[in-house]
Amino acid sequence: MEKTQEAVLESIYQKCTANGDNIITALQQMQNEFGYVQEEAVNWYAERTNIPASRFYGVVTFYAQFHLQPRGKNIITVCQGTVCHVKGATRIIEKIREDIKLKEGQKTTKDMKFTLETVNCVGACSIAPVVIVNDKVFGKQSPPKITQNLKAYKE
Ligand code: FES
Repeated sequence: MEKTQEAVLESIYQKCTANGDNIITALQQMQNEFGYVQEEAVNWYAERTNIPASRFYGVVTFYAQFHLQPRGKNIITVCQGTVCHVKGATRIIEKIREDIKLKEGQKTTKDMKFTLETVNCVGACSIAPVVIVNDKVFGKQSPPKITQNLKAYKE
């Protein structure tokens, strides 16, 4: 592990854990710093705190906010709730995969530009099917529309 990475982890430790056992905040800070929860960071932290690494992984896998793999610069989230599903979410996912050249079984493109994720109902059924790119919500999507909307993110 690099010295700078260790220094970051030590500072997280001092802020979050030195005076108590605050695993969630520590993991959030690790993810903010490194983009995802790195295995080596968890192992370092487990050793530093004498807390078993399994406790950290238990938290990481329980909360959807944590990611164990690096994610792309742009996060594309496709709603797969019932209404969006009925209105064509699967075809939209297929079109996005084709547009960003994402192979089956992969979530993030090789160039790290995009990560494709799915969620259940985002609470905007009236504008289904819904795709969210980073913080922007695109309603009433179709394969041609999503291709058009993704263009701006490819540059
Ligand atoms: S099912 Fe997609 S927003 Fe509700």
